[in-house]
Amino acid sequence: MKVIVTDGIEKVGSDLMKKAGLEVVEKKLSPEELLAEIANYNAIIVRSATKVTKEVIDAGKQLKAIGRGGVGLDNIEVEYAKSKGIPTLNTPGASSISVAELAIAHMFATSRFLNTSSMEMREGKWPKKNYAGGVELTGKTLGLLGFGNIGRECAKRALGLGMKVIAFDPFVKTTDMDVKLCSKDDVLANADYISLHLPLIKGEPAAVGAAEIAKMKTGVIIVNCARGGVVDEKALLDGLKEGKVAAAGVDVFMNEPITDAQKELINHPRVSATPHIGASTNEAQDRIGLEIAQKIIDALKA
Ligand SMILES: NC(=O)c1ccc[n+]([C@@H]2O[C@H](COP(=O)([O-])OP(=O)(O)OC[C@H]3O[C@@H](n4cnc5c(N)ncnc54)[C@H](O)[C@@H]3O)[C@@H](O)[C@H]2O)c1
Repeated sequence: MKVIVTDGIEKVGSDLMKKAGLEVVEKKLSPEELLAEIANYNAIIVRSATKVTKEVIDAGKQLKAIGRGGVGLDNIEVEYAKSKGIPTLNTPGASSISVAELAIAHMFATSRFLNTSSMEMREGKWPKKNYAGGVELTGKTLGLLGFGNIGRECAKRALGLGMKVIAFDPFVKTTDMDVKLCSKDDVLANADYISLHLPLIKGEPAAVGAAEIAKMKTGVIIVNCARGGVVDEKALLDGLKEGKVAAAGVDVFMNEPITDAQKELINHPRVSATPHIGASTNEAQDRIGLEIAQKIIDALKA
């Protein structure tokens, strides 16, 4: 059985598949090359770059499984694959800890001005006076929008830091954690920090736009490590300019890589920006590689 891996996989993952007797070919393919070559393979593993379109699925005459190392399946025609009896597999929990840690890192970075103070020091300055007025996380209220895998990991860490945690998730009604589940409006009105950990649903308005920001405390810090578009970037920039939003940590953007139009947001002095690196840790990548490899092995041996 042959597996094509187009966007890379950690060595632990490819080793596991080889040990299970699968032939693993790792190479980047253009959309045209993928269409031409997919017929030779029994499974494909992608990350975000490769699009598994209807045409690719039709051309993959021997395809028995489609795997994505990561959470979402946005770049795969899931329903079409299902209609052809081809399972689409992903690694939902493998990066949760890494993303939660990045969300907490953005909270610290924005609370203590790590982004700009570091840049000013590189320019030879000693900007101690500019960075008085930092705030502690301890004792503050973290409001989570989305209380799934990543939201819960974030809550654990925030509780460990002595934060109070409240959360809104329309599909979660109980928890054994010391987290108060409440309405979205309660989260918006009562949180000092708001961190988003919910899916992007295409066609739906941003979970946090101008109306939601208006309901927040003045001085709120907003962190988006979920998906670009769950926070309206214009509304966020307006909130920062007006002083309603004290700071923002942003890992994900409406367009990635960002366009010139988005530069005002990432250049804002109270924004801590990272280029979609939530899952980019050695530990998460190893877990992703192992988990998707095992799922492909199971699917091909079934
Ligand atoms: N930054 C990164 O690199 C990175 C990496 C992995 C995942 N993510 C993103 O993080 C987000 C959360 O991932 P997860 O693994 O926790 O997913 P999950 O499915 O475990 O949890 C998402 C939760 O959001 C809830 N939800 C759905 N609609 C909601 C709404 N309107 N309001 C509030 N809650 C809502 C769901 O009920 C679910 O409990 C996703 O958007 C995912 O794509 C980002």
